[in-house]
Amino acid sequence: MEKFLFLLSAFLLVWGLRLQSDPASASKGNKFAALGMLIAIFSAVIMPLENSKSNLIWIIIPLSVSATLGYIIAKKIEMTSMPQMVSIFNGLGGLSAVLLSFTEINKWIIFPDAYEIIVVVVLLSSLFIGSVAFTGSLLAFAKLDGYKWSEKLTLPFQHIINIVFIFMILVCSYLFISSSDVTYLYLIIFLSFVYGIFFVAPIGGADMPVVISLLNSFTGITAALTGIIFGNIVMLLGGILVGAAGTILTLLMCNAMNRSLLNVIIGGFSSSGPSNENKEQGDIKEISDSDFAVQLFYSNKVIIVPGYGLAVAQAQKLCKEIQESLEANDVEVKYAIHPVAGRMPGHMNVLLAEADVDYSKLIELDQANEEFKSTDVAVIIGANDVVNPDAIDDSSSPLYGMPILKVWESISTVVLKRSMSAGYAGVQNPLFFKKNNKMYFGDAKESLQRLSSELKNL
Ligand code: TAP
Repeated sequence: MEKFLFLLSAFLLVWGLRLQSDPASASKGNKFAALGMLIAIFSAVIMPLENSKSNLIWIIIPLSVSATLGYIIAKKIEMTSMPQMVSIFNGLGGLSAVLLSFTEINKWIIFPDAYEIIVVVVLLSSLFIGSVAFTGSLLAFAKLDGYKWSEKLTLPFQHIINIVFIFMILVCSYLFISSSDVTYLYLIIFLSFVYGIFFVAPIGGADMPVVISLLNSFTGITAALTGIIFGNIVMLLGGILVGAAGTILTLLMCNAMNRSLLNVIIGGFSSSGPSNENKEQGDIKEISDSDFAVQLFYSNKVIIVPGYGLAVAQAQKLCKEIQESLEANDVEVKYAIHPVAGRMPGHMNVLLAEADVDYSKLIELDQANEEFKSTDVAVIIGANDVVNPDAIDDSSSPLYGMPILKVWESISTVVLKRSMSAGYAGVQNPLFFKKNNKMYFGDAKESLQRLSSELKNL
């Protein structure tokens, strides 16, 4: 029975992941995977207790408390704060790997015959990776949530210090295995916790999604290692899935930014990088409500570029309303989706799905860059970094090398944002000063509301 349930949960986890690869079925995939996880927990934790029911209460109480807490947090969290939630949950996953490994290693100290040395090595690896994932994720959370102190944690020669730390952890592991002295174990945990902080400290805020995804894959690896120790197939499989998915996502994000993983880890693209705030940019032009509505109304083709600001303003439904008004007048409308627009992978897809925007209207970066050439107006709503020409033109820009939506190749562009403030990378955007660009200032929800009313009056 237990094996059958393991197989069923493994199937649901894999199938859930498969469904998540398409936005239309992603939500269903999430439910399948959650059911798989529920069955896995039941078969791995509750079923083996058949003969010692008195222990059941000690499992059910914390499980219920944590499940309730997780549900409340996930329900309350703003879409824009999702990366922070993922990093906290990931950190807790790392901490549980630390606790599990610590308990098992202590068993080995008391009963040296309980495990082979190779198992202790695996447990120590799990302890190390889990510790790095724990403190690294907490620091990633602080960086993403904008805690000022978290930006300035880098020491001089940080990368050399990191190598020294790894060396010390290896030496302590050797001394621990040869002496079983618990002091070395505490030292390994302490050094690994500090290493987790040092690992994330030099990496800029804009690279945090990549880091979180990398730490996520670390947690997956620790789960898989722990699965080997406990001979638990579903834990092994779940860990491998998380580890592999995290690694693939990390590499995809690096590709989307045209950067190597090493370049991200050594802090090449930092929010504290050079700023072009003071660079001579020229004048900007504003557009009035009626002029904007008329320009769109008489266009043949409009491409909307959504960004983080659209998510903040929660203006996706108004976006769809405008799309429908334009389509009723035979204007072709599409949405250009940049892979790192917003604050998490797939952020814009989820946002537009909430407003029931048809997926066939969403185009990816390469196709969008082809289509801008035949577009009358590119409407940039709350996006900034993903349309910054400096990514192509200015090798000193922290954005340099990131593939970008070349909106300026359209006949004209209109940018909707509240002010001239910079985007996530903290640099000014020369697009705003281009001859064929106009600014439409205001909160995206209010601006789109005004625009929608104007369009209806035409
Ligand atoms: P950003 O470059 O962050 O620009 C967003 C713009 O939206 C800001 O310039 C802001 O200007 C405007 N804005 C904010 N609230 C608004 C509102 N209520 N109404 C209208 N406008 C509003 O966004 P992006 O172009 O989407 O680029 C994403 C950036 O985030 C990239 O640098 C990316 O690397 C980074 N990042 C991405 C992810 C993932 S995986 N997607 C995760 C973390 C970080 P005002 O303040 O003037 O309004």
